[in-house]
Amino acid sequence: MARDATEALAQVADQHFDLMLVDIKMPGINGLELVRQVHETCEDLPCIVITGYGTPEHSVEALRAGAYWYLEKPFDQANLDVVRRLVEQAIEHGRLKSENRILHGQLQTKYRFENIIGHSAGLQRVLDVVAKVADSHSTVLVTGESGTGKELVARAIHYNSPRADHLLVTVNCGAIPEALLESELFGHVRGAFTNAITNREGRFALADEGTIFLDEIGDMSPTLQVKLLRVLQDRTFEPVGSSKTQSVNVRVIAATNQNLEEAIREKRFREDLFYRLNVIPIEIPPLRERLDDIPLLAEHFLESANKAHGRECVGFGEGVVECMAGHGWPGNVRELENLVERLVTLSGGKEIGVEDLPDPFRKQQPVDPVSIQIPPGGLSLKDVVDRVEARLIEQALKLTSGNKNRAARLIGMNRTTMLEKMKKKGIEFDRPMDDQYGEDAKPSHLPTP
Ligand SMILES: Nc1ncnc2c1ncn2[C@@H]1O[C@H](COP(=O)(O)OP(=O)(O)OP(=O)(O)O)[C@@H](O)[C@H]1O
Ligand SMILES: [Mg+2]
Repeated sequence: MARDATEALAQVADQHFDLMLVDIKMPGINGLELVRQVHETCEDLPCIVITGYGTPEHSVEALRAGAYWYLEKPFDQANLDVVRRLVEQAIEHGRLKSENRILHGQLQTKYRFENIIGHSAGLQRVLDVVAKVADSHSTVLVTGESGTGKELVARAIHYNSPRADHLLVTVNCGAIPEALLESELFGHVRGAFTNAITNREGRFALADEGTIFLDEIGDMSPTLQVKLLRVLQDRTFEPVGSSKTQSVNVRVIAATNQNLEEAIREKRFREDLFYRLNVIPIEIPPLRERLDDIPLLAEHFLESANKAHGRECVGFGEGVVECMAGHGWPGNVRELENLVERLVTLSGGKEIGVEDLPDPFRKQQPVDPVSIQIPPGGLSLKDVVDRVEARLIEQALKLTSGNKNRAARLIGMNRTTMLEKMKKKGIEFDRPMDDQYGEDAKPSHLPTP
């Protein structure tokens, strides 16, 4: 309880309240001004204003000042129930508002760039573009095989953009039946079709001021492609069954695991739509082309699986990460994430050893020898062999995060021989600072004994 606004402000400043009930007429600062001032510091605190004289002007003014609702005096028995209900609702509203703010903050943290793991050149190129385009409004087209992180990238763009406080609305164009997709995207008016019993807002309208993520865009039907083209061109559309044009301010991010150029050749995808979408292309390379991300990703997923399932798995034993590098990863990062989760859950807290890996990981894959065509002018076998050797040593170092013992073992070479060859061929490897796999973990600028 507070006797006037000054006292109320002092209390609000050092305690948490769920609700404020406030009269309008008070000595000093009046109730409406108090609501305004309270909201400067506690924007989620719901306030119910009590008006002595229930004139329409008073109620409008109260709402304008930011009140949740207003009540008319006197509180007789008949409307005490109303008061009780209103108080419950206002408290719930305030709770939802602050919960929403917290969750929103968590989403923004979750999709910070640092949470996209990997130091391979391929992924770094992706992240460079992501960082550059996030604060623009340009349309982005993310491509890559299934499980490479397309949605993760789309979310990172939205949550690092000036639109982050508005919605990111996702539409899976492949999962919604064609007949429903138009109304899903643009909404409909009552009576537009048999089941349209009310007006309904579409996803584009919902995403106003925010971002719409059109996933699996390659699966969209040709008719809808035309309609989408129009929104992309002038950001306007008509709900199904309506002739009233609506306009939206929305950023579009699209994604697909299909090869759209091929789809255009096969007349499954409109070329003009492709160019509208492909303003900023981001292509995420498959995991098998960035094997050097595997150690970091595996460690990252191990930590999150430990946390999520209350496990205390200590880590990967010798050779495990190298075995992982030999796998083809058709399911890309998602496959790795699932594998690590399974290993951690079954580990019983023990270190994960090579023997815990599924069969295909442990079998030695026959290596396809490089298919080199001898050019008309001939070639030097020695040069080619030298180059192949250098490439394999570099790869082994990458896969073992620069651990020379393990790199040498991985390609069946004696460590000293490998070091000599590295010196002769000028191969250097700076181990990443955050590497956790090395036995010879020391800064790379120190001489090798
Ligand atoms: N670089 C990365 N760092 C951390 N996690 C990643 C990374 N890339 C992908 N992931 C994780 O892998 C899983 C798959 O990613 P995502 O859903 O974004 O893939 P996608 O390309 O949209 O796949 P699909 O084509 O099957 O929809 C997610 O759990 C995601 O968080
Ligand atoms: Mg996806």
